[in-house]
Amino acid sequence: MDLYEYQARDLFESYGVPVLAGIVADTPEEVKAAAEKLGGVVVVKAQVKTGGRGKAGGVKVAKTPDEAYEAAKAILGLDIKGHVVRRVMVAAGARIAKEFYFSVLLDRANRSYLNLCSVEGGMEIEQLAVEKPEALARIEVNPLTGIDKDKALEIAKAANFPEELLDAVSDVFVKLYEVYKGEDATLVEVNPLVLTEEGDVIALDGKVSLDDNASEVRHPQHEELADKATEDPLEAKAKESGLNYVKLDGQVGIIGNGAGLVMSTLDVVAYAGENHGGVKPANFLDIGGGASATVMAAGLDVILGDPQVKSVFVNVFGGITSCVAVAEGIVKALEILGDAATKPLVVRLDGNQVEEGRAILASANHPLVTLAATMDEGADKAAELANA
Ligand SMILES: Nc1ncnc2c1ncn2[C@@H]1O[C@H](COP(=O)(O)OP(=O)(O)OP(=O)(O)O)[C@@H](O)[C@H]1O
Ligand SMILES: [Mg+2]
Repeated sequence: MDLYEYQARDLFESYGVPVLAGIVADTPEEVKAAAEKLGGVVVVKAQVKTGGRGKAGGVKVAKTPDEAYEAAKAILGLDIKGHVVRRVMVAAGARIAKEFYFSVLLDRANRSYLNLCSVEGGMEIEQLAVEKPEALARIEVNPLTGIDKDKALEIAKAANFPEELLDAVSDVFVKLYEVYKGEDATLVEVNPLVLTEEGDVIALDGKVSLDDNASEVRHPQHEELADKATEDPLEAKAKESGLNYVKLDGQVGIIGNGAGLVMSTLDVVAYAGENHGGVKPANFLDIGGGASATVMAAGLDVILGDPQVKSVFVNVFGGITSCVAVAEGIVKALEILGDAATKPLVVRLDGNQVEEGRAILASANHPLVTLAATMDEGADKAAELANA
């Protein structure tokens, strides 16, 4: 889960990372009141989960509460890369002397953590990495030892921080790593980390991604950070049933067992769709092992709730679970759903006890179900039905 900047700011504050006062607001009136409360120069900042807000006009400096009101009117409702701004943060204005960059992230390829740091912050880090790679220090962080004061000093030196700032910035690096580790984050990024005219080092912007696998068990309080309002309703429903579901844009609903099989099913359906009006997969759904009637019914229920779906392709390979259990699951699921099952289903079964499984589906002879012998045939049939 990615956090909004204001949530990252609050998290930083609770770990002792220096941040400026910030107040969230949803209307120009609230923004004006917040600016009055903060006093002095403020910055009105769009709260959207995408980068490049500044360039898109989503970050505006306001010298008075009236200017803040006008800034809010311009920013609220703005579309930034497909994210409509519904909320802003009114932040105290900093007098910036210098902008730096710091991040720590999960480096999957190297099975480690990686730190990126630069004295040239503010601009997009991807751009800096291309245009001035020598200005960006990349330091591996051992997950077992993390970033202690010594490591933080090593980072600050590698990034060419001037001698007189080493102590102050390294203190902040240690605290940012504490956020990363303490919250089981996969990314903590500060761009810019600034030095103010007063000589303070402050995190002016924050981007945090949390590891959902850790959140569920280790951080139940993360649940409160989830943004229910912008969550896809079908994904929310699937989550409640414990299903591994991702909504996509197409018309062919997909159910499979095992992430690998489902991924290849998406490819095969997209390919078959090219011969059938360009239909595409409507979702990823891995029902995992077991494939019991309740799980199958819950999966079908979510998929059939997607108005874009015109047909469903159930592609199951019986391994430990036999095709008999899967076939019985499908038959029972259709019973459970009753009239709610309205769209044609193409079923491809293979593997353990496949003949018995197919026989169960054949004898049930459900009007919505078509049996396919192979994955390609099933994908083609499902695409054809979606295009009908
Ligand atoms: N509180 C503040 N006081 C003064 N200047 C600020 C403040 N917040 C941001 N700025 C200025 O605005 C610039 C852009 O702000 P910020 O980094 O938060 O947004 P962004 O980089 O455009 O967005 P994103 O990080 O999502 O790409 C900063 O680099 C900084 O110069
Ligand atoms: Mg930024």
